[in-house]
Amino acid sequence: MSSTTGKFHHITVLMGGWSSERDVSLRSGAACAGALEHLGYRVTPIDVNRDIADRLAVLKPDACFNALHGKWGEDGCIQGVLETLEIPYTHSGVLASALAMDKARAKVIFKAAGVPVADGIVASREEAARGHLMPPPYVIKPVSEGSSVGVYLVREDQEHPPQELTRPDWTYGDLLVERYIGGRELTCAVMGDRALDIIEILPADGLNFYDYEAKYAKGGSRHILPAQISPDIYKFIQKLAVDAHNALGCRGVSRADFRFDDRPAGTGELVCLEVNTQPGMTATSLVPELAAHAGLTFGELVRWIVEDASCSR
Ligand SMILES: Nc1ncnc2c1ncn2[C@@H]1O[C@H](COP(=O)(O)OP(=O)(O)O)[C@@H](O)[C@H]1O
Ligand SMILES: [Mg+2]
Repeated sequence: MSSTTGKFHHITVLMGGWSSERDVSLRSGAACAGALEHLGYRVTPIDVNRDIADRLAVLKPDACFNALHGKWGEDGCIQGVLETLEIPYTHSGVLASALAMDKARAKVIFKAAGVPVADGIVASREEAARGHLMPPPYVIKPVSEGSSVGVYLVREDQEHPPQELTRPDWTYGDLLVERYIGGRELTCAVMGDRALDIIEILPADGLNFYDYEAKYAKGGSRHILPAQISPDIYKFIQKLAVDAHNALGCRGVSRADFRFDDRPAGTGELVCLEVNTQPGMTATSLVPELAAHAGLTFGELVRWIVEDASCSR
């Protein structure tokens, strides 16, 4: 295979881990490791465990490609380990990762930066299960999870909040109770300092919203790229994605999720739900699809991400 002309030669791909998004991360990691090998890098994939600092201290790679999702990998923890070991790494740094992972705190920052968000409150699961904290329809979701894990849509005709929340095995921590924004599901990637295009996601018939099944099951959703919205709104969403990325201090690639209620009887509201600092990186994930639309192969995207790696992010 051709050898790279980049800054780095030996790359460790961090994947797996022990978050609820472990399986998705293993898929992202395998795809990125394969692409890096194909590009001529020396690649060591690691299924991350709690001994990761010791392993990296021995391996001493030139850089780490972070393909982790969720807790520990996306929330600033692994980024802190890499800063401590002085190993350049991809995607966002400690602070931006921690802020983005906490949807409630991220929303405070978005608001201050002029990025609109849905009204909501933070509650314990006991409070959220006891009775409606706002008139339905609303959404209940963990403050710090991803991949739609633990997300509930409480419909207009539901008398009670979901009682699954009271189960002892429900372990997702505090919750965000947020007004349901109807209409379209849109997502926009940011690469460095520029926005890529916007995908509209249509969950398959019968699926509630963009839930775990819609995200990962075959035929769970349909993507429309570029999203069919007016050019003004399109540009505005791209600007909001860059503003949200910058407001949190993100680096490398990120992806912002939006809802836009442009239904005839809708509210016209446009809100940013969250910024993903470690967006999915399987060959069929949203960011690779957006990069392809901008003319970048999966390999070129992966190379760009890894060559952007550094410390002090
Ligand atoms: N306020 C909301 N209004 C409507 N749908 C929502 C709202 N919050 C979340 N959702 C739905 O749940 C999905 C997951 O929520 P999101 O905030 O993106 O968290 P994550 O992707 O990290 O699980 C969204 O893609 C959307 O379909
Ligand atoms: Mg999301």
